[in-house]
Amino acid sequence: IIKYVDALQVLDSRGDPTIEVIVKTVGGGIGRAIAPAGASRGKYEAVELRDSDVRKFKGKGVTKAVNNVKNYVAPALQGIDSRRQRDVDRIIIQIDGTPNKSQIGANTAIATSLAVAKAAADTAKIPLFNYLGGARAHILPIPMLNIINGGAHAGNELAVQEFMIVPIGFDSFSEALRAAVEIYKELKTYLKAKYGALAINVGDEGGFAPPMTMVREAIEALINAIKAAGYDVENQVRISLDAAASQFFIDEKNVYKIDGKELSKEELLEYWKQLIEEYSLLSIEDPFHEEDFESYAALRRETKDRVIVVGDDLTVTNIVRLNEAIGKGAVTGVIVKPNQVGTLSETMDFIELAKSRSIITIISHRSGESEDNTIAHLAVAVSGPFIKTGAPARGERTAKYNELLRIENYLGSEAIYAGKIYRF
Ligand code: PGA
Ligand code: ZN
Repeated sequence: IIKYVDALQVLDSRGDPTIEVIVKTVGGGIGRAIAPAGASRGKYEAVELRDSDVRKFKGKGVTKAVNNVKNYVAPALQGIDSRRQRDVDRIIIQIDGTPNKSQIGANTAIATSLAVAKAAADTAKIPLFNYLGGARAHILPIPMLNIINGGAHAGNELAVQEFMIVPIGFDSFSEALRAAVEIYKELKTYLKAKYGALAINVGDEGGFAPPMTMVREAIEALINAIKAAGYDVENQVRISLDAAASQFFIDEKNVYKIDGKELSKEELLEYWKQLIEEYSLLSIEDPFHEEDFESYAALRRETKDRVIVVGDDLTVTNIVRLNEAIGKGAVTGVIVKPNQVGTLSETMDFIELAKSRSIITIISHRSGESEDNTIAHLAVAVSGPFIKTGAPARGERTAKYNELLRIENYLGSEAIYAGKIYRF
């Protein structure tokens, strides 16, 4: 039974204010959750509430969100059974009353929803991944580590936002993570030798942000680092991209600005096909802008599903958008970001729909994060199979990797690495 709900303003990894919600139960359980924040947000995401008072935090304060918890959400949740997540989320949705959480804010909603789940797990004295995924949850996700940052996450000219390594061919999560760290270090050495010390400054997700323009140049750097660390690019460590193409789509001209050139959607399709073939990419996220379901479908068809075509800004953790994407044959994978929709129940519904249609789910952080590690538990609860949570560096990223290491350690011989059982 929920005894008490409170909220306060804390800081995220970019130094921007964000909301933390605390829930206490009569049974003595406590749950805390901090909302993350995106930089390349999708147009159809639930709305993040900010104060817009430019005198404080340049308008980015979240005191309105905090007050929404104190004044409206807390009184409504008091006395409710914390295990009744769907009731809790229905109440949050009703208090908000809008289709996109714009009244109370998706940041307010998700921090509350997750804090309730954590308080319920704590009350029952079971780990969150078991509380959410049942006693049998035991599969550790495959990490997709963004080790070169571009786009909205870095001060360089790379159009593509994320260049990821995906250590699939390992026996355990910890071995996979070790390989990723070794590659990250080799990449650092390579970038410093080739571009100088400024090239090893990092972007928002902890990946390096070298002064490059060409997408190929970044991919070549990854391949070089994978090989230098002694790993095999085909079987052990694959490469994935998040284009976040809405960010380099120029609406007025109907072109994409990439590699210093302007490409039509047909030219961009050919461009991706080339890269996918040449580097045997595992997945490509948001290859076209967030309205163009048809081009996603064309990419799937023309690559004969040799690459996982992933929706993020396209599908925004929203079942209506996912249904549209399914109807149009647009995606074989989706990003799952709880704050894109605003409640845990809606996030679970999205995952369920995706899995029922054999669409691969990738549980994901945002570029603005915190020490909150809930998504690590969520990834194990739903058997991943993937988690995207940045480079293996910077505290807000390692908070998730470290929690996965703890879960792996806790499970002992029960732990199974998703890379061992899934084939892509
Ligand atoms: P964001 O980007 O968190 O800055 O929106 C992450 C992503 O596009 O996957
Ligand atoms: Zn994305």
